[in-house]
Amino acid sequence: MSTSKNLSPSVDAMRDLDIQAFFEKGARFDQLILNVQSGVKYIDKVNKVKNMNMQLEKYIIDFAEVLLKTIDAKDNYTGSHSKRVAEYALRLGGYIDLDKDSYETLKMAANFHDIGKIGIPDDVLSKTTKLTDEEYEIIKTHSTIGANILSVSDVFKDIAFIVKCHHERIDGRGYPSGLTGEEIPFLSKIISIADTFDAMTTKRSYKESFDIDYAINELNRVKGTQLDSELTEKFLQLINMDKNNFIIHDYIEKDEVAN
Ligand SMILES: [Fe+2]
Ligand SMILES: [Fe+2]
Repeated sequence: MSTSKNLSPSVDAMRDLDIQAFFEKGARFDQLILNVQSGVKYIDKVNKVKNMNMQLEKYIIDFAEVLLKTIDAKDNYTGSHSKRVAEYALRLGGYIDLDKDSYETLKMAANFHDIGKIGIPDDVLSKTTKLTDEEYEIIKTHSTIGANILSVSDVFKDIAFIVKCHHERIDGRGYPSGLTGEEIPFLSKIISIADTFDAMTTKRSYKESFDIDYAINELNRVKGTQLDSELTEKFLQLINMDKNNFIIHDYIEKDEVAN
């Protein structure tokens, strides 16, 4: 900045206002040029660090995608399942006008909600017959394992708790913590609806897929106990806007090819 001597800012003011340098009227013009050049260099360096951080963030997300693919290899449906859950969750997020930051957080959390399945033994994860109580307890650890994996990285730490709570129920009968109603993060409630809907409408190793009418009935039945009532109502409104095309079939076909 340029100023006359008696208007020079104090050191405290410079610190508070993050002023990098000031230029006194009447001082040498080449000093001003030097100040401007050093300011430009400073901005350039900040931008480079920002770009490096963005690049690093991208590498970490790419690496997590690799982890997701690894789960997909262990359990045929899961990789595409996560993509479908993210798509359904974002449809609902868009419909209820989530703010941009929450929308992005929802996208990431939905994509990685089952990442903890990486820690579940293959024979339990891909079992085609009914799980024993003990095996079900093992499956249930995936939400906590996922949260633990995600919480070690700054990029994912915001979604760790959301992922941890994606199997909590409004009535407190969910896992891992038995949280109720308002204790459950809002975005976990959205993922939970999308997750339940996809589980019903796709073929799994242990069951056939159900049609849209079955899913609508089930959503109506479990709203207010398993799933958040208001959000489920919104989701049902969305389904009814395009009922015959709402289920994502292309990912299902991909699964069937994989099978
Ligand atoms: Fe899950
Ligand atoms: Fe899931």
